[in-house]
Amino acid sequence: MFNLVLFGPPGSGKGTQSANIIDKYNLVQLSTGDILRGEVKNETPLGIEAKKFMDQGQLVPDEVVIGMISSKLDENPEVKGFIFDGFPRTVAQAEALDNLLEFKNNPINVVISLLVSEDELKTRLISRGEVSGRSDDNEEVIVNRIKEYHAKTSPVADYYRSKNTLIELPGEGSVDEIFDSISGVIDTRIN
Ligand code: AP5
Repeated sequence: MFNLVLFGPPGSGKGTQSANIIDKYNLVQLSTGDILRGEVKNETPLGIEAKKFMDQGQLVPDEVVIGMISSKLDENPEVKGFIFDGFPRTVAQAEALDNLLEFKNNPINVVISLLVSEDELKTRLISRGEVSGRSDDNEEVIVNRIKEYHAKTSPVADYYRSKNTLIELPGEGSVDEIFDSISGVIDTRIN
């Protein structure tokens, strides 16, 4: 099994690159943002609760997303591996993920962190907001999402650095150039 965490701030290209990685390496993507948006769309109790946080650019409570990921792992027992996109986003989530994967004897193989300047993140998200219909792609909420990233999510990079699983790559340039460098990292680690 090959488990990859795609890490980076809002708008760094995690979703875009996950789509390419799925095609090439046949891994299953687990995007907590996509799963939560599905719950919001279906107006489930979880979605109604999560929407309050998402619309303000705040993280949804750890126990909610950890529970979601745990169920998704159980639903996919026979896969080649997972891409974790947008998860973990707090050190508590990273520790919980390690525990879940340790239980299954399949640890995280590598964490790829995409580095993108704050100006570029804002430009990308504001321009996506003009077409996406996402309720969190507007300037005020984007600023909160980036603040939340610095306060709660960037320590996750240190967590993985201390475990020697973190690789930082430039996240600016063409989508293909970035995908080539991601593939270079995966190719040296996947069986
Ligand atoms: P989530 O859906 O995870 O959003 P995000 O991480 O804030 O950011 P995005 O997914 O929008 O960005 P991305 O890095 O995937 O970039 P993308 O490829 O889309 O989370 C949303 C909310 O859900 C959170 O705020 C929180 O409330 C909640 N949530 C989710 N997970 C949670 C968790 N684990 N814990 C707690 N709460 C959680 O690209 C962005 C744009 O840039 C696109 O338009 C794309 O076309 C463009 N682009 C991509 N690459 C390039 C490039 N190389 N050059 C130019 N443009 C590019």
